[in-house]
Amino acid sequence: MKSFNISAEFQTFESLEELPGHIIELMKKTFEARDKAYAPYSKFHVGAALLLDNGEIITGSNQENASYPSGLCAERTAVYYAGAKFPEAKIKCIAISATSLKRPLTTPIPPCGACRQALVEYEVKQNSNMEVYFMGESGAIVRAKSVKDLLPLIFDNSYL
Ligand code: THU
Repeated sequence: MKSFNISAEFQTFESLEELPGHIIELMKKTFEARDKAYAPYSKFHVGAALLLDNGEIITGSNQENASYPSGLCAERTAVYYAGAKFPEAKIKCIAISATSLKRPLTTPIPPCGACRQALVEYEVKQNSNMEVYFMGESGAIVRAKSVKDLLPLIFDNSYL
């Protein structure tokens, strides 16, 4: 038997002001987006904003359903819309923030596993990394330089 390690480096920004200017703007778009979430069941509002290489910004919010699994996360709402509207564009980065009507979210909220898998598909497709910035409603922001850092041992089209 052999062991192997996978490591990844992430950056933490203490507050919005510490982020690069264009990421502050992108993160602010997630605040607007999450206000449009339809989350009557979880009361957990997520906003996502994508910056494309053509300069467009695409936003999305979580959309829930009385049949719970039929709902969709904010990140996938945004990434599928970007894929549908600008199929040739590359996604340079995604910003994500979340707020809950039940309690303050002051720590970074990472994207769920299913969204990581959806996002990595586009990273593979565009053959360039997508930065991921995520936070709660306040407090620190975490940056991953690539979705692959958030999802080691990815399943992608090379296995098909
Ligand atoms: N949610 C997202 O929108 N993104 C994530 O990465 C995690 C979870 C949504 C799904 C559901 O509407 C609510 O948050 C609670 O799970």
